[in-house]
Amino acid sequence: MDILVVGGGGREHAVIKALKASRRAGKIYALPGNGGIAADAECVPVKATDIEGIVRFARAKKVDFAVVTPDDPLVLGCVDALEAAGVPCFGPNKDAAIIEGSKVFSKQLMQKYHIPTAASETFSSAEEALSYLKTCKYPAVVKADGLALGKGALIVGSYEEAAAAVDDIMVRRVFGASGERILVEEFLEGPEVSVLSFTDGKTVVPMISSMDHKRAGDGDTGLNTGGMGTVAPNPYYTKEIAAECMEKIFLPTIRAMNAEGRTFKGCLYFGLMLTKDGPKVIEYNCRFGDPETQVVLPLLKSDLLEIMLAVRGGTLSKEHVRFSQDAACCVVLASEGYPTKYETGFEISLPETGANESIYVAGARLEGGKLLTSGGRVLGAVATAPTLGEAIDRAYALAGKISFANAYMRRDIGRRALAAQKGV
Ligand code: AMP
Ligand code: GLY
Repeated sequence: MDILVVGGGGREHAVIKALKASRRAGKIYALPGNGGIAADAECVPVKATDIEGIVRFARAKKVDFAVVTPDDPLVLGCVDALEAAGVPCFGPNKDAAIIEGSKVFSKQLMQKYHIPTAASETFSSAEEALSYLKTCKYPAVVKADGLALGKGALIVGSYEEAAAAVDDIMVRRVFGASGERILVEEFLEGPEVSVLSFTDGKTVVPMISSMDHKRAGDGDTGLNTGGMGTVAPNPYYTKEIAAECMEKIFLPTIRAMNAEGRTFKGCLYFGLMLTKDGPKVIEYNCRFGDPETQVVLPLLKSDLLEIMLAVRGGTLSKEHVRFSQDAACCVVLASEGYPTKYETGFEISLPETGANESIYVAGARLEGGKLLTSGGRVLGAVATAPTLGEAIDRAYALAGKISFANAYMRRDIGRRALAAQKGV
């Protein structure tokens, strides 16, 4: 089967490598892909948001299957357009992708169907939001309704900070139309867990759990980023908590989407916080997480393409989705200065990868046969091993063999997970 993958980050690189290992995979195209993905797929310079261009390409090449992974094309209806053109897809349609596309929608869904989440109020005018913020408890969380490159949630410690956040989001519109409405949410505390799941709208199959490291600096300091590293499994996510999440969150969410006439098919990402009152949903994503995918898929023992076809076909209950008992760690190498100002265009030197090691490229382009940095997050060094401690050591050893000017990485990816595992 010839497959088209929409997107061009580290997550897509991990998806493409897993698809390539499938028995039935033929040619793989990445739209647009990147300089590193070019080693594993034919990259075609069509933007992930150019829905017409994607459909045109899929038709011209008569691809058999398409996998749409980034949030923007999903929310824009890329799957609807491809399916209408006769191309079967993995990924939710536009009606279902709203679960990530609008935080107001997802909050109302959780409230209506009693899915545990932070208490919250919605506002469509800055004045009303400000008068509420005068009386609310701090810290609180101010969130833009729509997509905001993962930066739309601001934790505020006082009315002054909250007023500045409202001004940024609703008045100055730093996230554009995403700031037409905001949510003001109760601040929750506890370890965070990412659970990606496959679902065909009937069956939900959670993948191995993972832990993201969103802040730029060691010890979870500095600005929020797209993710500086991940480990899997997440030691806080015990079997008991997994069972509770299945009963109170995962199945109720699938049923709620069905009841709303918005059946979700694809990868549904549950961003959870394990509070003292039980697990609560912090966010839903309508797609694989980045860089969670880079640690989850290397542990998948089953054929990813078969699972994706079963999700599309509504036969997921018949698939055996198996994960290894090993652990995985991904250390992101970024350009110094990310997530604010950084330089690019530096040559990357990559080592050979051994068994149980992968390098997933996110921000690099090919020029004259050389791989050059082109983004904030440049790549992820990933290793799997029988224990979390070994996976972390091996991922850092691999990262140490990669070089480019101005490279920056956190030095403590997995440290908290390791401490939790040891009960510290
Ligand atoms: P979101 O964009 O909703 O995923 O939020 C981004 C990050 O902000 C989350 O990963 C949490 O670390 C934090 N966050 C979001 N909502 C809350 C909340 N209600 N309480 C505490 N932290 C939150
Ligand atoms: N790693 C968080 C996300 O993909 O949204």
